[in-house]
Amino acid sequence: MTRPLSLLVLVSGQGSNLRALWSAIDAGQCAATIDAVISDRPLAPALALARQRGVQTAVVSAKDYASRDAWDAALCAELAARAPELIVLAGFMRILGSAVLERFGGRIINVHPSLLPAFAGVDAPAQALAKGVTLAGCTVHLVDAGVDTGPILAQAAVPVLQSDDPGALHTRIQRAEHRLLPAVVHAVATGRLQLDAPRNARSAGELGDTSAEATLVWPPLND
Ligand code: GRF
Repeated sequence: MTRPLSLLVLVSGQGSNLRALWSAIDAGQCAATIDAVISDRPLAPALALARQRGVQTAVVSAKDYASRDAWDAALCAELAARAPELIVLAGFMRILGSAVLERFGGRIINVHPSLLPAFAGVDAPAQALAKGVTLAGCTVHLVDAGVDTGPILAQAAVPVLQSDDPGALHTRIQRAEHRLLPAVVHAVATGRLQLDAPRNARSAGELGDTSAEATLVWPPLND
């Protein structure tokens, strides 16, 4: 039996990805435990959810520190005290600093609402609509010092509809995120996905039910 992976989740916002992780764990589809949730925003709904679930929580707000480095050092201390096996950024809206990256680099993953490397940074669904792409999606990637630049672990595509505004597209992308993020965590827990393996050398089915032949063409072009 797979030993559950100990997760620490960093959040800033609504917490739909945190909720999706918990749902998958509760359903036995994700071999992990969420042992702590840390937020940079004291009023984040995601933090309230974590409190309801009774896990350890902490707030490390940049407003409480004189510099970005001081904030980063405080966050690093909170992470180190909990010794997580994997750190998951689930809607965490700050760039991590060198203290955290030096200590935990290679063990931090992020979910971003675009098919990276396209549309990094903020407002990715609006960026995608502005460019007129017909496929959008989400990416789970390792975190490095850049903005959404780390090695890509997995992606899921969704169609862009003519009626979409940024909110509608983001909602569709988030439904994909809610499947992809737990699937990646589970694949790491079971050893199907190795965080230090070359990214371009993955075998078919590494994420369980993903077929190497699966292709999504959008819009449909057949008669
Ligand atoms: C997600 O769309 C994620 O891709 C982005 O921030 C959003 C967070 O949503 N990084 P939630 O807080 O998980 O609901």
